[in-house]
Amino acid sequence: MSIVIRGGTVVTADRSFAADVYCRDGQIAAIGENLDVPADAEVVDATGQYIMPGGIDPHTHMQLPFMGTVASDDFFTGTAAGLAGGNTSIIDFVIPSPKQPLMDAYHQWRDWAGKSAADYGFHVAITWWDESVKEDMGTLVREHGVNSFKHFMAYKNAIMADDETLVKSFRRCMELGAIPTVHAENGELVFQLQQELLAQGITGPEGHPLSRPPAVEGEAANRAIRIAQVMNVPIYIVHVSCKESLEAITRARNEGQRVFGECLAGHLVIDDSVYRHPDFEFAAAHVMSPPFRSGEHQAALWQGLQGGNLQTTATDHCCFCADQKAAGKDDFSKIPNGTAGVEDRMAVLWDAGVNTGKLTMNEFVAVTSTNAAQIFNLYPRKGSVSVGADADLVVWDPEGTRTISAKTHHQNIDFNIFEGRTVKGIPSHTISQGKLVWKDGDLRAEKGAGRYVERPAFSAMFDALARQGLHNTPSAVKRNR
Ligand code: URP
Ligand code: ZN
Ligand code: ZN
Repeated sequence: MSIVIRGGTVVTADRSFAADVYCRDGQIAAIGENLDVPADAEVVDATGQYIMPGGIDPHTHMQLPFMGTVASDDFFTGTAAGLAGGNTSIIDFVIPSPKQPLMDAYHQWRDWAGKSAADYGFHVAITWWDESVKEDMGTLVREHGVNSFKHFMAYKNAIMADDETLVKSFRRCMELGAIPTVHAENGELVFQLQQELLAQGITGPEGHPLSRPPAVEGEAANRAIRIAQVMNVPIYIVHVSCKESLEAITRARNEGQRVFGECLAGHLVIDDSVYRHPDFEFAAAHVMSPPFRSGEHQAALWQGLQGGNLQTTATDHCCFCADQKAAGKDDFSKIPNGTAGVEDRMAVLWDAGVNTGKLTMNEFVAVTSTNAAQIFNLYPRKGSVSVGADADLVVWDPEGTRTISAKTHHQNIDFNIFEGRTVKGIPSHTISQGKLVWKDGDLRAEKGAGRYVERPAFSAMFDALARQGLHNTPSAVKRNR
């Protein structure tokens, strides 16, 4: 079974060139003009289209148990929707409950993810600390291909990591050659502000952004970055939503620290007015953390992407339907936090980024796949169009249009935060592991076809990144396991 994509322009993070791409046995077998391929190869006509690495969403939460409910997209429906949107890999999160052994949680998530239709990996959250956690981090890195650990600085009384946990975990990451990642919001401040707002009678979704102002995010981002600086470990800040945290990242990078920042498609195009909508269902559907921000923060995020201080785009895909959001009808702090987008990220980014001239096509590839692959050590297997790489590709039709709607999307959620937005530039074909899984609106996702992808620890990767110029200094991290 083989496929040849003919007549298109290959677009990678560093160049664009006319070529056919031949895929065989799940890998890219040849790239070149007028390729001679077996007669039985299936032909995809990409005339006038771009052939790019399949998207990698480095931040999703399929079927996450969270805030008293479970996210409604499971690993099959969520990854299938991702394929429809041109994404061929996700990195999801194992989130142990406090005191739950890391290995138990890891095996639980591996079990759930067995039905994935696309390849996947896991960041593992550190939600508590003792010697067993330290030990299990080593097992995960050495034996299970986990090279990133997540720390929630928010969600007090649930999964929040205090400073002691951050310090100890960052130190352990350093020893293991793993990268710490953080959800940067000061959970104590959020909790305090929530109590004050509720006491004042502000119980609706408009209280959500008021309880999580940009300073709350900026403080936490800066604190995490400074802890990482002292621990001499790189750090990745997830879902950067505001100027304050971007400034903390930029400052540290200018000082030579290895800091990476991710931003979400939603934060780039949706503003905070959604929380003041009179309809509870509409406003609650947008409740996610950090919240959507005002236009000046959106402009800063675009500049962060353009200037290279933000390297990746994600979705934080975490679906809750209206009946789940209703848990917070009388108290905004109880609205399950999360929004969807894995199906829409690529097209929204292309339309709002490439079509407006904010991003080049090559930058689009960098921020939708290549940089994530490099930072999380999946490159060049993922995030590249090169011989020997996984045949995970998207054929992109720059003239195709789609009006995004919950009525037509494949995500298992009754709302779409991009509802009504017409995007120009859509995936015509998605190829995953060398198989055509999305063809002009026909989704052929296969339950269980996705593979768990191991991600080796970092010393070798940091050397490679330094050579590629993504880092400021060569290998500061020594493998010490
Ligand atoms: O609101 C959000 N972001 N929900 C998912 C969990 C998280 O904080 O990433
Ligand atoms: Zn988060
Ligand atoms: Zn998240």
